[in-house]
Amino acid sequence: MSRVPRSEEHLKTGFTAEAVSAAQFRAQAARAEHEGLPNLAAAWHELASEKDLLAIRQLEASGQVRESATAVADALAEERFENDVLYPKMIRDVDDEAAAVFREVVEAQQRHLERLRELRTALQAASGDI
Ligand SMILES: [Fe+2]
Repeated sequence: MSRVPRSEEHLKTGFTAEAVSAAQFRAQAARAEHEGLPNLAAAWHELASEKDLLAIRQLEASGQVRESATAVADALAEERFENDVLYPKMIRDVDDEAAAVFREVVEAQQRHLERLRELRTALQAASGDI
């Protein structure tokens, strides 16, 4: 295998690792907030923001940050796949509690799909920014 695909693969792996850390740190921040520990929550948020930057840096380096119209089209396709294939398949395979979580995700993603469709339409009509 040539160096370039290996580099992209590892950059994507690094992106995923840092993006996951950012989400985990935000979840910890929410828990700390809930426990009445706002300074700890703020520290988690600060770390999460730094993880976001590391994730973005690696995503850009892997060539995965697309031109805007392409990015919207890709996001629409990904959300459709998740809602129509991925989550329904997982819902059939898990206990009621997990299935309820996945149904919440699908419901939220229906709104995201609608927002992405609005953005696609706005981008098609605009000559510059929407
Ligand atoms: Fe999604």
